Amino acid sequence: MVAIGPADRVFILTGAGISAESGIPTFRGVNGLWRSYRIEEVASPHAWRRDPRLVWEFYSMRRCAASAAKPNRGHHALARMEESLHDRLFLCTQNVDNLHEQAGSSRVVHMHGELFKSRCDRCNSAPFEDSATYDPQRAVPRCGCGGQIRPHICWFGEVPYGLDRIASALDGCTVFVAIGTSGVVEPAASFVARVRGRARTIYVGPEEPANTLAFSECHWGKAGDVLPNLFRFE
Ligand code: OAD
Repeated sequence: MVAIGPADRVFILTGAGISAESGIPTFRGVNGLWRSYRIEEVASPHAWRRDPRLVWEFYSMRRCAASAAKPNRGHHALARMEESLHDRLFLCTQNVDNLHEQAGSSRVVHMHGELFKSRCDRCNSAPFEDSATYDPQRAVPRCGCGGQIRPHICWFGEVPYGLDRIASALDGCTVFVAIGTSGVVEPAASFVARVRGRARTIYVGPEEPANTLAFSECHWGKAGDVLPNLFRFE
């Protein structure tokens, strides 16, 4: 068990593994998305410039898959943790699904964007809620400014969202917990190295992440099995 005291501040980083038990495929596992699709063809600014309809086809497929998904015991455990810790919990996810929110987490930082939002690729108008799926035979929808509407997703080669808030939460945390992430995609993979030495560093998942040596404690197993009994609040 991990004891959380009254002075602790907890930083949680989740990855695709926490949503695996909800039926959303991970990226690098046996049936992982990046085994069926090439990143550079569907998830990069270059892909968008070259073939925006193909990019929308990919994200429409992901919207369909995610819209049926329900949060699992792992998401619910983290939502309960927020009820105990309030603003002493910082929940940062690399996931673009909304399962943390569906479970009741109210302050989720989506550093790689949100699947059910879109935005203009030209002007600075704010991202908007959008669960539509787009027909690849039809033209990509346009903003009033003439730009094209793109998924609100951080593609490879783009800067993740919320990095300033994330940096200050990392610098202030006393407990860092990474859940279900393979530890290969930057900058998230290096968060643990930043806090190591002054915060407890904990990993939860069924197999070793690439950055396993930076963790002081590993709890092997599925998030839905491990998380409900992992923390004790003192
Ligand atoms: P990966 O697919 O790289 O890794 C998923 C991790 O989840 C693996 O380490 C699995 O062992 C673990 N896992 C599988 N089932 C699990 C379960 N039930 N409970 C806990 N862990 C489990 O996914 P990420 O590390 O999240 O970025 O990938 C990081 C980023 O790479 C993604 O956000 C995405 C991708 O390209 C963008 O699209 C920008």
